Amino acid sequence: MYTSLLLTALCAASTVSASPLLLQPRHDSSSSSSTTASTSPPTPNPTLSPDLLKTLAQQPTTVDRFSELLKTDPKAAPLKFDFNPSANAPFRSPGGGVILATRKNFAPLIDLSISSAVGFMSPCSINTAHTHPRATEFLTVVAGQIETGFILENGLPTQINTTLTRYQGTVFPVGSIHFQVNSQCEDAVFVAGLNSDDPGASSVAQNFFGLSPDVVQATLGFPEAIDGENFLTFKDRIPVPFARGVEECLARCGIPMAEGKKA
Ligand SMILES: *[C@@H]1O[C@H](CO)[C@@H](O)[C@H](O)[C@H]1NC(C)=O
Repeated sequence: MYTSLLLTALCAASTVSASPLLLQPRHDSSSSSSTTASTSPPTPNPTLSPDLLKTLAQQPTTVDRFSELLKTDPKAAPLKFDFNPSANAPFRSPGGGVILATRKNFAPLIDLSISSAVGFMSPCSINTAHTHPRATEFLTVVAGQIETGFILENGLPTQINTTLTRYQGTVFPVGSIHFQVNSQCEDAVFVAGLNSDDPGASSVAQNFFGLSPDVVQATLGFPEAIDGENFLTFKDRIPVPFARGVEECLARCGIPMAEGKKA
């Protein structure tokens, strides 16, 4: 089963290699990127000092922790997390990005076994195949349309697909390999709850190809297309997690494939 997924990843990577400019960030001013690029000056989420975070994490009870939190500057609004892209670091990926509140950047979550993510997906983008090592994810679309799929684990080698429109949701069981695609010409946004305050994420292609070349090649059955000479080239072409998707979508939506050239 992993072979077919990896082949998909390989195909995706080789598609990208045909159009490396897809990896460049967009710098146009089209309205289609309105949710992924903000023109207003960023008002960042407050960052807690490592010392305060440590103090909070060391409190013996939740009452003690929240009592400590209430001693912090109320102007920093320690109980509010801002998912607006303008309040967070700019996305580095051309396809958008995800903003995740965890125990580290939103201290009230410490030991509450929950976190939350908001994903902003540009037209024709894919949040590439990944797993969450410590959490099941319940994803709900709040704008646009998103196609999702996952493979649960060994024993059920079937890609389970779900297409979601606004206010529809689905679940990705902990450990499952899953992805999201926005194949529409408009932005899409999802909100996801995860049942860990530190869910983690592991990108399948990126981390698989982080293994030593011998292991990768043996695991793939020594494919002719990848050898010692082109291994690094191949690995370098694996896109960032929020990648631009298929060329068909870009063409249909009138998004110039070479727009990144201007960057
Ligand atoms: C999910 O979608 C893929 C790609 O279109 C397809 O190959 C696969 O058969 C679908 N899975 C199911 C269970 O229909």
